Amino acid sequence: MSTIDYRPEAVDILVVDDEEQNRLLLEEYLRPAGYTVRTAENGETALKMALEKPPDLVLLDIMMPDINGMEVCQRLKSHESTRLSQVMLVTALGGSSAQVQGLDCGADDYVVKPVRRDEFLAKVRSMLRVQRLVLELHRTRESLHLRNAELEELHALKATLSQSLVHDLKNPLTSMLGNLELLSREIDEAKRMRVTRCRNQAARMHGMILDLLDVAGLEEGRLKLKQETVPADDLIHGSLEGLEGLAEQHSVTIEVDLVSAEAEIHGDRSVLTRVLDNLLVNAMSHSPSGGVITVTCEARAEGVEVGVTDQGSGIPEQLRDKVFEKFARLELQGEGVSANRGLGLTFSRLAVEAHGGVIWVENAPEGGARFRMILPSVEELRLYGSEGDSAGIDGRPGATASDAASG
Ligand SMILES: Nc1ncnc2c1ncn2[C@@H]1O[C@H](COP(=O)(O)OP(=O)(O)OP(=O)(O)O)[C@@H](O)[C@H]1O
Ligand SMILES: [Mg+2]
Repeated sequence: MSTIDYRPEAVDILVVDDEEQNRLLLEEYLRPAGYTVRTAENGETALKMALEKPPDLVLLDIMMPDINGMEVCQRLKSHESTRLSQVMLVTALGGSSAQVQGLDCGADDYVVKPVRRDEFLAKVRSMLRVQRLVLELHRTRESLHLRNAELEELHALKATLSQSLVHDLKNPLTSMLGNLELLSREIDEAKRMRVTRCRNQAARMHGMILDLLDVAGLEEGRLKLKQETVPADDLIHGSLEGLEGLAEQHSVTIEVDLVSAEAEIHGDRSVLTRVLDNLLVNAMSHSPSGGVITVTCEARAEGVEVGVTDQGSGIPEQLRDKVFEKFARLELQGEGVSANRGLGLTFSRLAVEAHGGVIWVENAPEGGARFRMILPSVEELRLYGSEGDSAGIDGRPGATASDAASG
């Protein structure tokens, strides 16, 4: 970007007047100050010259036979390449209304004929100072825009790179999972346990990768949810089947309590399965050995409520919103909350909200954590149609009975 030249000879002034005598007079005033002066004898020529090379300052007569000064001024100010040129109207018209009209059409200032040399040159200098400042501002803005665009590009590149790295981890892991599965069928009981553990860990890693990819997708609104009918019963049992090995490893028992066994959810089965997986894995890793995790399902007026309750240490009240934040690290010693990477619940909240649902956590009366979510039901859709209602779910009891009960 070129620097601004502040020398007088670098200043380009265009004098526009249909009378030669007037042009000569202004030229005579301006040249001794060192300015470069060009002249035009009508509006048409002036516009042509200004567009070819935008002047710093235009001295514009108002009364001209072809296009009058006001119109020339308007056109200069509305054209991208000449809008930064300063315009001074040189007016013979008496009365302030013509001058107001002139300023209204975009002129920056005016002088009244007969032009007095000292006053005129002082005004020219003042307008040139303003023009240089405007130019500086304009250049700074342009360079900021440019820098911003570069930064955005860099940011996007970085995001794409890390996304594709994460994505590329997926296929080798899928292959590992398949091979471990085959291997576990071919070996004796004693070794099988170890292979199953490896398989469970690989499956967990696979889930994390999907969470990472989907958090980005959900945040950018790229992730398209499938809208299908998902029987709540199927969703819960599908998720539990996949986590049997992990439950065994953690020595926990999972109980299912379906108040509404026939409830149907309207949503994306695979995304919702991963939400439930996340809640269950969290519950397992916070459960005491021999603990019981309870999964519940109940059709409510606002939608289908699915809950996961464990017998762990629970989550302190002041951290109940924080656990859903990205990379939330709960390093609260002595309160049973471990420091963690924390993406599972971020994904879960984004996914549930993308369905138009809500998810929150409270403590069970006995002390463990109870995660609950309300998801749009097929029944609700049948009653109220596809729009509006699912987004309006807010069955979160907030500070009502259940919270009070949990203390
Ligand atoms: N059932 C629970 N009981 C107690 N604390 C929990 C429970 N579930 C989650 N938390 C707390 O919330 C934090 C965030 O959970 P989240 O599932 O987002 O992350 P994470 O389990 O640490 O890692 P990942 O990304 O693998 O899921 C956890 O680190 C933990 O401190
Ligand atoms: Mg987790």
